[in-house]
Amino acid sequence: MTFSRRQFLHTAAALGAVATFATHGAAASKTSWTERRDLFPEGVASGDPTFDSVILWTRRPSTDQKKVGLVCEVADDAAFERVVATTHVDVSAESDWTCRVLVGGLKPRTEYWYRFADADGAGSRVGRTVTAPAEHDARTVRFAFVSCQNANDGAQNAYRRMIFEDEHASREDQLGFVLHLGDFIYELVWYPEDRPQGMYDRQMRDVVRYANGEKHDDFYIPTTVDDYRAVYRGYLRDPELQDARARFPFVPMWDNHEFSWQGWQSFQEFNEITKPAQTRKVAAMQAWFEYLPARVKKPSAGLEKFDAPHVVDAPIAHFDDNGLGTEPNNLAALKSLTGYRVLRWGRNVDLVITDQRSYRSRDPMGRKEAEAFSSKDFPQFIPEEAQQILDGGRTYAAGHPPAVIRYGDKEVDNFAKNDPAQTILGAEQKKWFLNQLKSSRATWKIWGNTTATLDMRADPQNLPHDWPYKWPGAGYAGFGGGDHGSAYVERGEIYDFVAHEKITGFATIAGDRHSFWAGYASKGLPPQKFEPVGVAFVTGSISAPGLVEAFEHKFPKDHPSRPLFLADRVGKEKPEASVNMLLRHGVRSCLDYARNGDLAGAKALSNPDNAPHLSFVDMGGHGYSIVRASADALAVEFVCIPRPVERSSGANGGPLRYRVINHAKLWESGERPLMQVEIVEGDASLST
Ligand SMILES: [Fe+2]
Repeated sequence: MTFSRRQFLHTAAALGAVATFATHGAAASKTSWTERRDLFPEGVASGDPTFDSVILWTRRPSTDQKKVGLVCEVADDAAFERVVATTHVDVSAESDWTCRVLVGGLKPRTEYWYRFADADGAGSRVGRTVTAPAEHDARTVRFAFVSCQNANDGAQNAYRRMIFEDEHASREDQLGFVLHLGDFIYELVWYPEDRPQGMYDRQMRDVVRYANGEKHDDFYIPTTVDDYRAVYRGYLRDPELQDARARFPFVPMWDNHEFSWQGWQSFQEFNEITKPAQTRKVAAMQAWFEYLPARVKKPSAGLEKFDAPHVVDAPIAHFDDNGLGTEPNNLAALKSLTGYRVLRWGRNVDLVITDQRSYRSRDPMGRKEAEAFSSKDFPQFIPEEAQQILDGGRTYAAGHPPAVIRYGDKEVDNFAKNDPAQTILGAEQKKWFLNQLKSSRATWKIWGNTTATLDMRADPQNLPHDWPYKWPGAGYAGFGGGDHGSAYVERGEIYDFVAHEKITGFATIAGDRHSFWAGYASKGLPPQKFEPVGVAFVTGSISAPGLVEAFEHKFPKDHPSRPLFLADRVGKEKPEASVNMLLRHGVRSCLDYARNGDLAGAKALSNPDNAPHLSFVDMGGHGYSIVRASADALAVEFVCIPRPVERSSGANGGPLRYRVINHAKLWESGERPLMQVEIVEGDASLST
């Protein structure tokens, strides 16, 4: 399908981008351009490519308040001898000196270079981008997916490694784009002087100072659009991140930290106080829109600015049947930017991206009353049956939820018994999402879900009889809520739909958990039926600390549960991540391994019912993941790097910990997908 110029202009206006069309006859650049990175301190970026267009971005700040006119050039060579599009775009203080240019009329699956220059010829760095393959192109699609970069306490070595490998790959094997699944920024920031002890293994870096920051405990959060803009600018000074944005088109989606750590809809939660924060939600969306070029929708068609809706922080007291707060300012704030969208890469990939934060109902496990299901004797463990009952709300047990939930000798009030079942997508987005899955004709229907879909559980019911405490749950233990790993009702609805509609090639890819996971998309686990309808993956964080690092610093040395998470070894500075064994094989394997260090012996004690849905899990890994999607197979490669405490000075981003490829062949309708794990290099034996 080729869009008419009129349609193209309409699309550009809807995206808030200046539009330009590539010409057929390429000519050498006539624009004066001398690179001045100091005048374009956040570099350049491109976003959301299709087979014939892509959005380009830069920021050119000015000290006086007048608009600055820029020329944007696109060429099909790095020397700009063959310029195919030239356009003018203004930047102004209204959009914090950022701009978006939608370039159309491009060739599919083609590399382009772009740059910006002001009237004096002072130019941005040169960016590179790649268009998507044409609709009927059946070649393998390759892309990276990433999440959770924390420039306040970590180094973005993963991007350096990704760039290095891509530069050394054959053109056929290079990445088409980078899917960023959120936590592009962490809005809560520690100023180094407020945290001299650092964070776990790391020292705090001075990434941003908020003009209007609000202090909670020892960290600050942004309160205005200028604060949110400032944190993006702070992050984009990171050379690895800036270089990655200049080399690859990014396809971004926000997760929680682009707005607020424990945020949902327009709410913020700090120190157990839930507050309406519509003004901050809009501010967060505005800064996201200004700094990340993407095909997201805002209500107005203005090209140069966001047109923030006027909202106030009014109480949100009423919720509809899907837990959506009906307060008008809440609805206006959520509408200020719509992020869910579908993008296509040839015949093999439809990427369906959803928003897990803006429309979700309140997480029942995040409520204070849910603390009744935590126990000091069993850190991290929540009875799975309590998670299921609370998730189901009034719909649990076909509309007959129990009034109380038993937990050992306690009877805890079922505080969710009158609530609707938990939804993470919300009604409207879910309907859209299911429609996309049904109508997709691509080999692989890939769900870009910022948060994970795989159950995270253990089997404390199998602890030895002489264990000092008795597990108060009825069976398995979950690790709390927050994602589709414990949104059982909604996940079940989606996976039933996939099965019912005979959808094959269904895969979910996610971030948020700061850990690598591979396995199967199943509605239930034993003792319920285990029936995979697809494959599922989670990528480790680029740099934000994960559970293993936190436990190394926080888990009491003398707690009986310590070996379930960390295996201390005589003479070794750091413990091993036995939690990987716990999640994959259960308590017996985990304890045996922690005691003896004999992996084969420990795996022989595996509880096959604990995690039939997992083929790989590493709670201590950082790095990125690569998808290769062809007409008959999907391969997801985990590129794991050492903990990114310090910036690696090498051109390759430093050494690897391991490289693992998870292979799945395309399955027929009614067949079960089957995953094979290939350890290509390094040691990942605790994870399989
Ligand atoms: Fe994160």
